[in-house]
This record gives sequence, C-alpha cells and structure tokens, in this order.
Amino acid sequence: MNDLITRLRAAVGASNVLTEGDLSAYEMDWRKRAQGKALAVVRPASTGEVAAVVRACAEAGISIVPQGGNTGMVVGSTPDASGRQVVLSLTRMNRIRGIDAGNLTVTVDAGCVLQNVQEAAEAAGFLFPLSLAAEGSCTIGGNLGTNAGGTQVVRYGNTRDLCLGLEVVNAQGEVWEGLSGLRKDNTGYDLRDLFIGSEGTLGVITGATLKLYPLPKATLTAWAAVPSMDAALQLLGLAHRHLGAGLTGFEVMGQFALSLVVRHMPQLRVPFQAESPYGVLLETSDQESEEHARGQFERLLEVALEEGCATDAVVAENIAQARALWNVREHIPLAQAEEGLNIKHDISIPVSKIPAFCAETDALLQREIAGVRLVNFGHMGDGNLHYNVQAPEGGDMQAFLRDQEERVNTLVYDQVQRFGGSISAEHGIGTLKAEKLPHYKSPVALQMMQAVKKALDPQNIMNPGKVLG
Ligand code: FAD
Ligand code: MLT
Ligand code: ZN
Repeated sequence: MNDLITRLRAAVGASNVLTEGDLSAYEMDWRKRAQGKALAVVRPASTGEVAAVVRACAEAGISIVPQGGNTGMVVGSTPDASGRQVVLSLTRMNRIRGIDAGNLTVTVDAGCVLQNVQEAAEAAGFLFPLSLAAEGSCTIGGNLGTNAGGTQVVRYGNTRDLCLGLEVVNAQGEVWEGLSGLRKDNTGYDLRDLFIGSEGTLGVITGATLKLYPLPKATLTAWAAVPSMDAALQLLGLAHRHLGAGLTGFEVMGQFALSLVVRHMPQLRVPFQAESPYGVLLETSDQESEEHARGQFERLLEVALEEGCATDAVVAENIAQARALWNVREHIPLAQAEEGLNIKHDISIPVSKIPAFCAETDALLQREIAGVRLVNFGHMGDGNLHYNVQAPEGGDMQAFLRDQEERVNTLVYDQVQRFGGSISAEHGIGTLKAEKLPHYKSPVALQMMQAVKKALDPQNIMNPGKVLG
C-alpha cells in the first residue's frame, strides 16, 4: 500500500494526498447516513493527474470513489468502511475552460461548482439553467454523475439534456476526449449518455461541454395556496396552457413539509402555511418583457382562483421577494435534516397519476405505521416527488430507521411500481437503493447494465458497491 501512496504523491503532489486528520467531510455523506474510511483522499488538478491516479489504483487493484461536492442524497460519493478505497476529489479541477457564444456552449472542468458555472454564463450574457438548492457546493461532475434534476427541468430538462460532450478518464486510466459541442452526432453508441447518470461506476468525468440559453428578459415567481393534489394537477395544466414554454418552475410543497421550515427557520416567512394543505411555487421566464410576463401570470392566477384550483395567490413584486419565496422551497431539505434523520424517496410518477398515488399511499402509510409524518414536496412539473417519511413526533429516529426503513421503502416502492413510476427520479441509486434496484428494474435491463459495467470496468474498481451493488 505504501507503494501506491508514493505513486499517488508523485502524481498529484504530497499535499494533495490526504491520509491523516479529520477526513469526515470526504468520508461521511451529506445526510449523515454512512461514515466510511478512505485509504486516502486524492485531489488532482488536471485530467492528466486524474489519469495517473486511476492507472496507479488500477495496477494496485484499489478501487476509486469519484467525489465532487459530496452533496449526493444516496450515499454514492463516500467510501465504504474497509479503509481500502481511494476518494478521488475533483474540486481542484475548477476551471471554466471557455465559452463559445456562437455555439451557445460552455466547456468546464468537472470540479466546477455549479453556481460558478451559472455566474460565468451570466457574465457572458447567457443562462445556464441547471438549478438546485445545493448549487453553492455541488459540482458539474456530480450533477452529471447523478443526472441531477432540480427546479428548471419542466422547461430545460435534466443535466443530461444540458450536456453536449464529455471528457472522461476510463477505468484503465485512458482519456476519452469527447468534448463535442455538436447538437447532432450519430456515429454509433452514445458514450456520453452512458457516463451521465452512471454515478462514478464507469469512469471519471473530468470535463463537459454544456448548453447555454439566452437570458430571459424577465423572470417572475408566484406562490399559490392549493386545496389538494388534484387541484395542484389542475393548476399545472393551466400553467402549461397559459405560459407555454415560459413555464420554468412548478414546485409543490405539502403543509407538513412547510411546517418544518416554520419550525426550524423562523426567519423565513411561509405564505398561507397555516390555512392551506399545499403550496405551489410557480416561475415564468419571458423573452418579451416584465409587463408581458406579469400580464400572463396574473391572468393564469385569476383563472386558477375562478376555477378553485388555487384559493389564494401572491406574485413577487421584485427580485428580493422572489428570492424569499424560493428560499422557503429550498430550505425544506435543510429543515427536514434539522428535524432529524429521515427516509427519503425521490420518486417519479406520470404527472396525471400523482393525486391518486398520494391519496392511496398517504392512507396506506398512516394505516400501517401509526403517527408517521409525511414530508411531501418536489418538482411536480416533472412528476417528481420527494415523498419523504419522518418518525412520529417525538419518536427515536435512529430506532425508526432500524425498525421501519425496509418496510416503509417496500410500501412506497411497491406503490410506485403499481403506478408505473421510478424509484429514483433524480438522486440516483448509490448504496442506499442498490439492494432495491433488482426488485424494481427489469431483469433484462439489469443484465445489460451489468454487461456494460463488466466491459468498461472489468476489474470493478470504479465506485464498487454503488448502483449495481
Ligand atoms: P457528489 O455527491 O460528490 O457525487 C454524487 C455521485 O456522482 C457519486 O456517485 C459520485 O461518485 C459521482 N461523481 C461525482 N463527481 C464525479 C465525476 N467527476 N465523475 C464521475 N462521477 C462523479 N439533486 C437533484 O437532482 N435535484 C435537486 O433538486 C437536488 N437538491 C438538493 C438540495 C440539497 C440541499 C442537497 C444537499 C442535495 C440536493 N440534490 C439534488 C442532490 C445531489 O445529487 C446534487 O446536489 C448534485 O448533483 C451532486 O453533486 P456533487 O458534486 O455534490 O456530487
Ligand atoms: C430537493 O428537491 O430539494 C432535493 O432533491 C433535496 C431533497 O430531496 O431533499
Ligand atoms: Zn429534488
């Protein structure tokens, strides 16, 4: 093992091979669901250095856990407890490599923090639309590794839809230079799409070419009080009809999820929380003018109030008010973490079936587990709910996880399957859902996934234990 450490030090510099001290920022996941132990944390600064690290590990038979901001939700970016895995942290690779204004693309290092990419795009007069509450610390490599979704998917798609090309170091330590800015390229299998969403199990993403969009002339945010999930679905239909491609955000939040924000972040003002079963946050982006956006938005909300799918609504008057509304939505995961350990479900269901799914599954869980608390919120515009579960008030969350997690997951995922949904809409599988995947994915699909893994990583050194278990 000493030989490997010596080689790693030669590859990236001794100060970038961490083996001692408090490494918990790299070894424990964001949700504090697992504490691992790394052989070393290695911090390369270039694609060449990543390749040298992978070659050294491959020759020593030591596995690699690629890591970006370590904000993932499914224990995918931290090592196991063996002390025999190398964490490959990409955060020193943080260069914006260039913007091609004519091609509407930006090329970046994989360790770039998402917010820095958004800001670089904006400084050049463009929008990079990927947006999520972890954007101040998550990285493009992690976004691509998980095919992250976020709050703008209803208009711009998920990370896969925003990526045109990749640079990857494969499991043999070779560099695949696939940084194409092409929007059309049918020269065989799409390797880019294979690496996106592979959660570090096929290779290390070191760079990406991403799509840019024109900055909208105006962006407006509204909050509607909504009496039921049926009403939220009706409001979504209205929003599509009234705003067309201008609809850039449609987030639903259950009353209990919002009550956790009220409890743990009393400085945030939550509209209509006490009187409404659900809140919906809507965003419109307009290429004409603020006046045009406001007119369209106000008409939509008028119709929604007339039809009864909203019982009250407020449109932000300025950017500060809009930010305050988004802050409430984005603080739900943080409020839930403050409330204690929890069971997360990142599910997708055909949008039309969400009300029936929630009605049945809410009742099922209440029946099976007395006092269980449902923290339901998410990206309703994409059919993606964070249908999360918290122990009964005052309950011991650790004991709840130990005794009930498996049962709760089975109840929820069986329902998801019945409704034709997916057990992971945007967070991925990691280790937390690896055991469940074989129950809910077709055996033929799993066989093909295993064949791909074997072909690209025959030594099984890329993030073993994640996704395929
Ligand atoms: P990490 O957590 O470091 O890694 C995630 C996975 O990607 C791991 O499997 C890792 O091995 C792999 N990986 C990382 N870098 C690379 C690389 N360079 N090459 C290959 N594989 C790599 N997710 C959403 O989809 N939508 C949301 O709205 C959303 N909101 C969030 C809000 C909060 C408050 C938090 C904490 C997380 C949220 N997430 C959300 C989850 C998370 O998936 C995203 O934050 C992000 O995509 C992870 O990026 P990261 O750099 O932190 O990746
Ligand atoms: C979100 O949409 O806020 C995230 O995906 C995080 C979560 O599920 O808690
Ligand atoms: Zn989400």
